[in-house]
Amino acid sequence: MVPAYLDIGIQSRMNRIINPKDNRVVMLAIDHPYFQGPTTGLRNMSKTIKTLLPYCDCLMTTRGAVRSNIAPEDVGSKPIMLRVTGGNSVLNEELSDEKITVTIQEAIRMDAAGVAISVYIGSANQQQTILNLTDMINQAEECGIPVLAVTAVGKNMARDLRYLALASRICQDAGARIIKTYYCEEFSRVVDSVSPTAVVVAGGKYSSPPDALQMAYHSVQAGAAGVDFGRNIFQDDNPIGMIKAISSIVHGNHTVKEALDIYNACLPGASRLD
Ligand code: R5P
Repeated sequence: MVPAYLDIGIQSRMNRIINPKDNRVVMLAIDHPYFQGPTTGLRNMSKTIKTLLPYCDCLMTTRGAVRSNIAPEDVGSKPIMLRVTGGNSVLNEELSDEKITVTIQEAIRMDAAGVAISVYIGSANQQQTILNLTDMINQAEECGIPVLAVTAVGKNMARDLRYLALASRICQDAGARIIKTYYCEEFSRVVDSVSPTAVVVAGGKYSSPPDALQMAYHSVQAGAAGVDFGRNIFQDDNPIGMIKAISSIVHGNHTVKEALDIYNACLPGASRLD
């Protein structure tokens, strides 16, 4: 059914990010250097992007990475979810001290499909990061650009249902169109707490192919729109196999075993990213 009034700019960009045929997305997160500098798998960012771009639906990255590392012929081939907060580094004890680092005009100029903001609920900078989110939503919505809120989890916070549902719901109420959060037990309750807002799941530290695929499987079974994995893809020995396997779960409703078969079929000749 066509609603009486469609926000065409927002809907157009949402359709570029989340496939409207199945309402699912495989987003590739490669924004890590914005606070952790050289990162295994992203040291040669151009190679990582060239290798994995064909297999993701959307690239979550930073202004510098887009400018410096996407080959001219690949520009525009996949939508960009542009990270627009930063200001911290792994050298700081408190990671939550982030501000908006990219203007909405710059996001428009770069043809971003969406912009991403980290919010640190319960941290010393909770209010500042929520206001980063609301300020950017006020500007981005005027321009038809959806905002993705990342529920970043500080060192003292538990990645459990209570915390993630709280953080996700605050982001939804601020007006985020997509929420990126972590997987937890009873994850469907996190998804339900922000329904109908789309939820994508962050992968976290590198684990193993079976564990990462299990997480992707349980996430979409619980109602997530997909994943926004980074290290479990670009730090794997078989990064192409991994992203293909994840895509088969997200878009093909494959089981973990079927996805592992896809992973293993890509193993011969696979090589690590730098
Ligand atoms: C963290 O703030 C960044 O947004 C990362 O992109 C995010 O943690 C997802 O990457 P990974 O799957 O490596 O955790």
